[in-house]
Amino acid sequence: MDQRRPPRHKSAIRDVRSPTSRQVAVQALTEIQTGSRANVVLAAFLGDQGRGLSERDRAFVTELVQGTTRMRRAVDHLLQPFITRKLDTDVLAALRMGAYQLHHLRTPAHAAVNDTVSVAPRRARGLVNAVLRKVADVDPEWPDEATQFSYPDWIWNLFLERWGQEGRASLISMNTPERPLPRFDGYIQGQASRWVSEAVDDASPNGGTIVDLCAAPGGKATACGAAWSKIWANEIDPTRARALSEVVENYRPEIQVVVSDGTNTPFGDGFADAVLVDAPCSGLGALGRRSDARWHISKEAITRLTGTQDALLEEALRILRPSGVLTYSVCTTTQQETCGVTQAFHERHQELRSLELQGSHWRPHCNGGLVLPHDYETDGMAIFQWVREK
Ligand SMILES: C[S@@+](CC[C@H](N)C(=O)[O-])C[C@H]1O[C@@H](n2cnc3c(N)ncnc32)[C@H](O)[C@@H]1O
Repeated sequence: MDQRRPPRHKSAIRDVRSPTSRQVAVQALTEIQTGSRANVVLAAFLGDQGRGLSERDRAFVTELVQGTTRMRRAVDHLLQPFITRKLDTDVLAALRMGAYQLHHLRTPAHAAVNDTVSVAPRRARGLVNAVLRKVADVDPEWPDEATQFSYPDWIWNLFLERWGQEGRASLISMNTPERPLPRFDGYIQGQASRWVSEAVDDASPNGGTIVDLCAAPGGKATACGAAWSKIWANEIDPTRARALSEVVENYRPEIQVVVSDGTNTPFGDGFADAVLVDAPCSGLGALGRRSDARWHISKEAITRLTGTQDALLEEALRILRPSGVLTYSVCTTTQQETCGVTQAFHERHQELRSLELQGSHWRPHCNGGLVLPHDYETDGMAIFQWVREK
């Protein structure tokens, strides 16, 4: 939907001392629509003091922001017939949030309309009121399921072509993301990510030295079992490495953080007893958790990512000792990033032997395992493990 940057005068939110949840949500949505990442914006808005909001209100802001961002295509379809001109970004943010409440949260019309109008930019309150009243009366007719469930066509088609009805179920399930329970130590880690950590531990019962090549924010590294005598957590991005260091300090201070390109690390040949490559990927299995990701990722990016995944696996093998275990995981389900990358890697390296995965949650997938998002209402995740025989 067309949008313009808002004019330079102050928005309503800066005029009040204690903003309401909806005011905070509109401001966050405005920033996200101009290109900022949803999780980053929410962390900035709700971190520390949380702008004076209660825990309940912060949860409501999160629901409004993540839900409106996720359902953007569906919501725009509802708004489209009643919008005749290009809108400022903050006005569009208010309208989208109002429509999301009406049709997805099923908020009673008077509350959704009145409360949204009261936090819309003052100059556009008449318009927001008029449009939302009309949207409230709409019985939606969806042109197709990609619009209804709010995915770009190419993602919808990719899942349907590869997985059929299971792909459809996966996509629908990612519109209601997992709410993971805290781990025993309080860290919040998704279930599928925990299963990867468990598989890493299970494949190396004697522990030793492990290198996590792509470690930030640190969920899997800090979940490694007690058998490991030394854990190295490597990350290329200095900002993410700082976040990783904080997590390490709070949850596993003995872990050594290293900042380097995982395709060219300072570790020597045969340094590690085990290496984990939890590779950067398209994240198409984690679209629930990252509400804006579906609007950013492109088909072309997947091909670029496989180049990095190849290079990371090559470096992992260099630093792995004979008889050591290599684990590759990605929170995506694309053929290219799972079977494509791993089969080509195995063909290049006859010294590798595939390991059978423990754990009934993994569906067999090429020589590895896979969880689709709707299997257990978790992230979609793929995993492959090998022993280096010589
Ligand atoms: C899927 S995330 C890792 C999640 C982490 N293992 C966890 O469980 O919390 C991938 C990470 O790889 C990092 N990364 C991307 N390219 C890299 C490279 N060439 N070398 C090392 N890390 C890289 C990204 O910055 C990102 O932090």
